[in-house]
Amino acid sequence: MTGTAKNAHLSRWRCPSNIALIKYWGKRDFQKPINASLSFVLQNSFTETSVELYKDGNQKVEFYFEGNESSFDNRIEKYLNQISERIPWVNKYNFRIHSSNSFPHSAGIASSASSFGALALCLTELDFAHSGKETDSSEFWQNASELARMGSGSACRSVYPGFAIWGKTQLFESCSDDYAIPLSEGIHPVFFGLCDAILLVDSGKKEVSSSAGHQSMNEHIYQRSRVAQACLNINELYLALLTGDQEKFITIVENEALSLHAMMMTSNPSFMLLKPKSLELISRIRRFREKSKIPMSFTIDAGPNIHLLYFQESELDVKAFIERELLGFCENGKWIDDQIGKGPENRGR
Ligand code: DP6
Repeated sequence: MTGTAKNAHLSRWRCPSNIALIKYWGKRDFQKPINASLSFVLQNSFTETSVELYKDGNQKVEFYFEGNESSFDNRIEKYLNQISERIPWVNKYNFRIHSSNSFPHSAGIASSASSFGALALCLTELDFAHSGKETDSSEFWQNASELARMGSGSACRSVYPGFAIWGKTQLFESCSDDYAIPLSEGIHPVFFGLCDAILLVDSGKKEVSSSAGHQSMNEHIYQRSRVAQACLNINELYLALLTGDQEKFITIVENEALSLHAMMMTSNPSFMLLKPKSLELISRIRRFREKSKIPMSFTIDAGPNIHLLYFQESELDVKAFIERELLGFCENGKWIDDQIGKGPENRGR
C-alpha cells in the first residue's frame, strides 16, 4: 500500500551527510562517545525521508528505500522500540517510511548519518506537532540531534548547518555526550569555503562495520592516549577554525584521519580498511601540496575513500589536479564534488 492513508500524519526532511575532522571512534553506554568529535555537513550528499503515521489495527513498519520495500526496517524497528521510552506515541502508530539518497548506493559512502538525521528530524517534527510545541526553537534541534544519535552516533552532527561538535569538551559548557551543538559562530570566513572532493576508491561492502570498529576501542591498548589526543586535537582545531589558520587545520585533520586508521590497524583483532589506491592518493595529495603551496588536506572515514579538502579560492587548480593526477586511482574514475553545506531542509508535509 503506497497511497496516503486516513488519519495520516506526515513529515518530510532532507538531511545532509557529514564528515568528521575530529573522529568519533569508540563508545560507551548507549551511543555515548569516548571522546568529543567535530564535523561539517556536506551540501550535495543527503538523504530525503518521509514518515507517514497512521492507525489501522496491527502495528507495523513499512520501509521503502528508493521506492523498493527494504529489509533495513529491522534496524528501524529496533530504533523505534528504543526511542519509544522518550516518545511513547511511536507504539501507537503504523509507520510508512520512504527514504532515498542523493548519492549512489554503491558509492561506499556511509549513509547512516544522513538517514538517521532525516528520520530523527521527521520524528521530532511529528512529536512537536503531537504536543503542540513550536518547532522554531533550539529545543527542536537539540531533540532532533539526540534522537539521531540514538540511531547512529555521527548522525547527531548532521542536523545543523556548517560545523558541529558532539561530546563533552572544555571548549563549551553546552557541549554534551547526548547531542551535538552547532559551531558556526565566530568561525573564520575562509572555512565557509571548504570543499570536499570525495575520491571513490572502492564501493565494495565494508569488511568491518562501524559498530564492530567502535567496539574494538573498548580493550584497545592505546585507548587512553587516543582520547587524550582527540581532546588536544579538538582544542587546537577549534582555535585554527577561529583564527583562519589553514596550516594548522591541515596538520590536525590529517593526524586525525591517520590516527583513526592506526587504531584499526593496532586493535585486536586488527583490520585495515585503506587500500593501496587510498595510499597512492594520499601521497599524491601531499606531493602536490608541497609543490603548488595550495592549502589542501585529506580526511578518511571508516573506509578506503579519500576526502580531499580544499578551499574555494583554489577550486580551479584543485579540480585540474584531480582530473590530471587522481582520477586514475578512483573506481571507474568516479568522485563526488561536494562542499560545506547549509544543513537540513524541511520538505513540507
Ligand atoms: C569513522 O556513527 O557510523 O565515521 O554510532 O555505530 O552508528 P554508530 O557509528 P557511526 O561511526 C562513525 C565513525 C567515523 C567517525 C565520525 O564520523 O566521527
